[in-house]
Amino acid sequence: MSLHKVTLHVPPKTKLSGRLDVLMMVSGFLLAVFVGMHMLFVGTVILSPRLMDALAWFFEELYLVQIGGPLILLVMVGHFILGARKMPFRQKEFIAFRTHTGMMRHTDTTLWLVQVATAIIVLIMASIHIYVMLDTLPITATKSAVRIQYGNWLPFYVVLLAAVAVHIIIGLYRLGVKLAVITRKNRPKARKLLLYVLAATAVVSLLTHLRLSLMTV
Ligand code: HEM
Repeated sequence: MSLHKVTLHVPPKTKLSGRLDVLMMVSGFLLAVFVGMHMLFVGTVILSPRLMDALAWFFEELYLVQIGGPLILLVMVGHFILGARKMPFRQKEFIAFRTHTGMMRHTDTTLWLVQVATAIIVLIMASIHIYVMLDTLPITATKSAVRIQYGNWLPFYVVLLAAVAVHIIIGLYRLGVKLAVITRKNRPKARKLLLYVLAATAVVSLLTHLRLSLMTV
């Protein structure tokens, strides 16, 4: 198969597609900021369940959860649709993409395939999660602990966290490369930094779940 043939699935660049790319980058960055803040918010339970309750009360009093929840879902769906423009959904496109990846042996192209898989997992699981959260308001540390201890939600969160963390880290890396913040020279350093962020997220999440599992309910 010629290189020309296998790259046919890539849509041609237009002014509109450039603008949609910017929109995708901005929405992705905002979602990453949200998830980071969300992890810190839920992580306050490590310090004190009462602190988590107080923060949840504060956000709900301001309707930030009731309005923010559906808004985040909307931004997430929009971000997915913007990304889906480039996803190799059809079998022919997928085979062409795989051949292309194999021929180039290009890490960044392989990372993009991981982006596609994690995007689908996050979209489905985060939609379920947001629905459950909004359906069982108000948020309290005790309710979260009950879900973990008696509701069998732990495996769900492990998969969601792994998918969302990998998706965000790769997304930030690709964004850094596109904006030339990450250059050939500082690339190894940037990769290391992002891996540290990934490890820190895993540690905070582990401690959060440990705290929720050990809470008296
Ligand atoms: C605005 C809507 C959201 C609210 C109100 C919310 C609230 C919460 C709460 C209260 C928990 C604690 C566990 C529980 O109660 O079951 C939790 C856990 C979690 N949430 Fe969300 N969440 C929202 C959106 C999201 C989104 C969009 C993602 C990812 C894309 C996400 C990922 C997670 C993960 C991975 C956990 C497990 C905790 C951890 O591993 O540290 N959440 N969320």
